[in-house]
Amino acid sequence: MAGLPFTDSEYLNRQKNVLDELPSESVLFIPTNPRAVRSNDVSYPFRASSYILYLCGWTEPDGIFVARKSSGNWKTILFVQPRDTKSEIWEGIRVGVEGASEGWPVDEAASIVDLEKEVRILIQGCTDIFTIEGSSPELDMILSDVDTSDAKSHIDGHRIVKSEMEIELMMKAATIASNAHILAIESTYAGIGEWQIQAIVEGHFAHNKSQWSYPSIVGGGDNATILHYKENDCTIESGDLVLVDAGCEVEGYASDITRTWPVNGQFTDAQREIYELVLSAELAGIEACQPGSPWLSMHRATSMVLAAGLIELGILDCSIEEAIGEENDFNGPYRNFFMHGTGHLLGLDVHDVGGGRQGDDDPGPILRPGMVVTVEPGLYFGSWRTDVTIPERYSGIGIRIEDDVLITDSGPVVLTANCPKKIDEIEALVGSNR
Ligand code: GLY
Ligand code: MN
Ligand code: MN
Repeated sequence: MAGLPFTDSEYLNRQKNVLDELPSESVLFIPTNPRAVRSNDVSYPFRASSYILYLCGWTEPDGIFVARKSSGNWKTILFVQPRDTKSEIWEGIRVGVEGASEGWPVDEAASIVDLEKEVRILIQGCTDIFTIEGSSPELDMILSDVDTSDAKSHIDGHRIVKSEMEIELMMKAATIASNAHILAIESTYAGIGEWQIQAIVEGHFAHNKSQWSYPSIVGGGDNATILHYKENDCTIESGDLVLVDAGCEVEGYASDITRTWPVNGQFTDAQREIYELVLSAELAGIEACQPGSPWLSMHRATSMVLAAGLIELGILDCSIEEAIGEENDFNGPYRNFFMHGTGHLLGLDVHDVGGGRQGDDDPGPILRPGMVVTVEPGLYFGSWRTDVTIPERYSGIGIRIEDDVLITDSGPVVLTANCPKKIDEIEALVGSNR
């Protein structure tokens, strides 16, 4: 059993920040994720809820973190699976109630077997009950006859700015993922299978005691134009690019990198034109990661560069104002080729909580020191598309470049800077370790 990644005081601080803002005579329930069946009696590997990881670092299944506020004071209880030799022979040794009460940052631990009885006592006299629905069917059932509110919105804001200890783990995840991409670029050759690149990247994650933070995307040629491509089952021919969007997590903290390179080591002129454009947009997006700037600054910066470049390359035949869209709405025709947001917050979830996903009405948070964001512009010219005219020269090209960026008082710090992205660096690296 591995220990907790943070000191007790780090967890207690987080609990205090969240709980101080909740009303007196309230109770907060944070169930972990449910187990997910893969087939018959085989489960997917269990991954704890980011909320329970954040508040107390509990990684076993069937846990529920509870905090009860009364007369301004808090008591925290962690419900856990009790020790049970018969189950442990099959599934592994549990921390158990005693272990949880001694080694975890909570006032008490209790057995999940007693959940119903204990919850009924805990909610007595409470005016507010906060919970996360849909994770624990048993808890949902117990609370089904009382009024509850969503707990997430009271925690999300606190997760946005990362502590020094969190940043340290995120740097580790960024470094492992950067090195995995370097290894993949070095090992690439014309005719390699997408699944083989996936194996190199994920093998490096595993070798470093890490795991993917989202299913790796390895798309060769036209497959690179599918934003969440996941089959990874095609071979990649000479002349094609491969787009690899793969990140790992360390103690739950994610990295998220995309690099795109030619499998034969040489960009064609057309690929080079699009690559240079995406890279300029990405650098402009990173430069826009300044403390105090509105969330949309990054997206505006990347969009202006991409729209101007699409016009210059003759892909769009309009003015920059028209390309960007009516009343500067950033929904103009450049979006035919750059159809996702410029980035998202990064943390315990790869698309971390705290707002800022482009495409919805959320204006997003103001950028603050300690936030970690991704910057990931791309251009996609799927030859399979029937909704837009794709110039023959660029048909089948999909390019995205994505880095993880820490906002600091003195500007952006790229956590994934170790991973090359300049054309000459990439060309020199492809296939260099075969
Ligand atoms: N890997 C998903 C994303 O880049 O947002
Ligand atoms: Mn990504
Ligand atoms: Mn991303």
